[in-house]
Amino acid sequence: PTKLRVSEAFLDAQVGENVRIQGWVRSFRPQKQNLFLHVNDGSSLKSLQVIAPAGMNDPLLGFGCAVEVKGILKKSPHSKQPVELEAEQIRVIGECNPVDFPFKIKERHSLEYIRQFLHLRCRTNAFSSLLRIRSEATAAVHSYFKNNGFLLIHTPTITSNDCEGAGELFQVEPPGTTFANEGSFFSVPVYLTVSGQLHLEVMSGAFPRVYTFGPTFRAENSQSRRHLAEFFMVEAEISFTESIEDLTKVMEELFRSVTESVLAHCEEDVDLFHKYVAPGHRDTLDDMLRKSFPVITYTEAIDILKRSSETFTFPTDWGCDLMTEHEKFLVKHCGNIPVFVTDYPYDLKPFYARDNQDHPKHTAAAVDLLVPGVGELCGGSLREERLDLLRSRLGECGLEDTYSWYLDLRRFGSVPHGGFGLGFERYLQCILGVDNIKDVIPFPRFSHSCLL
Ligand code: 4AD
Ligand code: MG
Repeated sequence: PTKLRVSEAFLDAQVGENVRIQGWVRSFRPQKQNLFLHVNDGSSLKSLQVIAPAGMNDPLLGFGCAVEVKGILKKSPHSKQPVELEAEQIRVIGECNPVDFPFKIKERHSLEYIRQFLHLRCRTNAFSSLLRIRSEATAAVHSYFKNNGFLLIHTPTITSNDCEGAGELFQVEPPGTTFANEGSFFSVPVYLTVSGQLHLEVMSGAFPRVYTFGPTFRAENSQSRRHLAEFFMVEAEISFTESIEDLTKVMEELFRSVTESVLAHCEEDVDLFHKYVAPGHRDTLDDMLRKSFPVITYTEAIDILKRSSETFTFPTDWGCDLMTEHEKFLVKHCGNIPVFVTDYPYDLKPFYARDNQDHPKHTAAAVDLLVPGVGELCGGSLREERLDLLRSRLGECGLEDTYSWYLDLRRFGSVPHGGFGLGFERYLQCILGVDNIKDVIPFPRFSHSCLL
């Protein structure tokens, strides 16, 4: 018999064929005459109904076990499914004790419940859907950049720089080293990267459009629903920029293009989330795709917050950073669609952000994209390409020696450039309506937790 992926069984072409499938039992109903089971193999959300004479009911067969089924694929007489497999042989490959197995037949477990079993949760419909969506979105990110003239750069995981200057670094050394610089492996302190930006900036001195997409690390001691210690970031850097619009255009196009691809290729999987995890979220997502993203300045954002009747925990004075509560309010205020906030106070932004010298208040040409349910999805800026200004800023931060190579980029063929980073897990939260970031990454790492 032809070996078939379960999703292929649903394509009419295979009806009448003698086939063989391998997968895991998702439902199990022994009856007097017949035995009914559903088998899923991860190829889609669909499980194939298998019918067998009751005599084929092996005592080891049951919910959760791994099986191989051989038989004839038939058109189903029931409207609920188009095809079913009339089994001639069912072989149990791996048994599954239903008493010990944490997932129970016919129960819809919450994302929070299945998260307790990181090593088993891919066996649930919800998490297998998430993983297919994640994989599709990843491919769509690469397609977007490839189709738009961007070069992929593999930026390093181990680095000696703290790009964001926020000190949220994980230091790296082989076991047994004292962390003193002398005698340490690299002879200098090194860290897991918080961002590939500076390495992309190096490359943007020869390639006008570059990007990277990989894991980044932050020692953020936060128990929030939108922070991880290890998360994936999509980062782009664009040379010969004229204004912040060169960045917002790419951010918005990337968001739309990836989302459209996910909706086109993972419709069933996305529907599962919009039906059971975040009812009503599909309308929110459709709104996001229908309307173009508004742009407001930080100064306008502060005015909006000040004028509102909402009480905030954190201050809303000009110069204060926007906190999650502010970001969520601004998104609602703008019609519950993504909104760009530009021109933040200069002092709030890292050393690389470009000084808006012509503005009445001291601002930097930085931009964040805020989205429904999540808040900040992307952070980006034009970079300070002017040697004298960058040198004095680095001097003020005591970083002139550390970043002499970075100053070199402005010495030799410097061009106006800028870029942004998009938090990939926050993106998935945003399109699926998932409340907790730990439910959109296969193996979440956060403070006090690094299981597996
Ligand atoms: O705003 P951030 O810190 O920007 C940068 O790192 C820039 N160097 C990127 C660039 O311009 N190339 O981070 C970018 C995005 C945030 O907007 C957020 O979505 C996500 O990364 N992010 C996190 N996601 C999950 N857990 C965390 N701890 C995150 N920290 C940032
Ligand atoms: Mg940011």
